[in-house]
Amino acid sequence: MNKTKHTKQAWIITGPTSGIGRRTALELAKQGTVVLVGRDPDKLRALKSEIHALPGGQALSVVCDFSDIRSVHRAAAEIIALMLPIAGLANNVGIMPLRNGRSAQGWDLAFATNHLGPFAFTEALIPHLPDGTNVVFTCSGVEDPARKPAVAAGFRGGRYISAEASARGEWKSGGSKMPGYDAYATSKQCNLATVFAFAREVPRLRFNAVEPGFNPGTGLGRDANAILRFIAKYVMSPLAPFIKYWSTPKRAGRVITKVLTDKSDASGVYYDENGRPMLASTQVRSDDFINRVVTETRKLLSTFTETQVR
Ligand SMILES: NC(=O)c1ccc[n+]([C@@H]2O[C@H](COP(=O)([O-])OP(=O)(O)OC[C@H]3O[C@@H](n4cnc5c(N)ncnc54)[C@H](OP(=O)(O)O)[C@@H]3O)[C@@H](O)[C@H]2O)c1
Repeated sequence: MNKTKHTKQAWIITGPTSGIGRRTALELAKQGTVVLVGRDPDKLRALKSEIHALPGGQALSVVCDFSDIRSVHRAAAEIIALMLPIAGLANNVGIMPLRNGRSAQGWDLAFATNHLGPFAFTEALIPHLPDGTNVVFTCSGVEDPARKPAVAAGFRGGRYISAEASARGEWKSGGSKMPGYDAYATSKQCNLATVFAFAREVPRLRFNAVEPGFNPGTGLGRDANAILRFIAKYVMSPLAPFIKYWSTPKRAGRVITKVLTDKSDASGVYYDENGRPMLASTQVRSDDFINRVVTETRKLLSTFTETQVR
């Protein structure tokens, strides 16, 4: 963390050290101070230097492991103590592990990193965000079981049973045959439900979602075998600008920045890879589902009290 006085508007971004988040951080640097929130101090330091080398570039970094609720609370407290003129928060952190993994709290690693951590982080910051602050979540169309390209890729949409079941790594039957896909799709569906719920609950702030398009070659596919990673990076990635629903981290970073810095009072909007409003799955369009996700998530997170955090 850097205690220098920051007078420019501050934009918080999580998961800025790779892929879409990195390009978004570089784009946000044109708008003010960027608060880089990531888990790897060396990568954060390198990105901070890169931003400082840009004309007028200003950045500071906060270390946070989003899979660990204690780390999330610490990072949020660190940011609050900086008393920055926060203008926006981009919740971008995300993983798609192909093997089962557990978080520090013993929860499913993808569900903890993608949903529980960002949810707790946002709830901790909300009381400290000035009116009109825009909070954007990087979501994913794979949450929708009716989305054809996602189904063709092996996804079967979000498979939510309950927050507790997700934390245990249990998904509704009839899911994907691909390991890790149900955990990823369910956690991204919970991101979207969070956006819609928070937009209703906190009208003084704005909450929006972006589906960044399929961006082959980012670190999201880091668990795939070497051949698939090679194909994603050197064959699929150059084709991305020309294929519907596909995108590049540079373009996705621009769309996320445009939505985040938008001055309108739009809230509760889900944008596609071109920045146009799109429809969520039938499931996330249900108020009952949204309320259940948020209520159950809060109940699960409440098992970690402030005293345990310290
Ligand atoms: N790529 C796509 O096709 C696609 C499509 C739809 C949605 N998305 C969403 O876009 C977002 C960014 O994904 P990406 O494709 O850019 O992937 P990426 O290149 O792997 O970037 C993920 C970022 O999250 C960070 N991260 C992972 N686990 C973390 C943890 N426990 N604590 C703190 N930071 C952590 C990574 O840090 P390290 O650098 O330290 O690993 C990295 O900065 C994700 O939310 C993803 O779900 C991606």
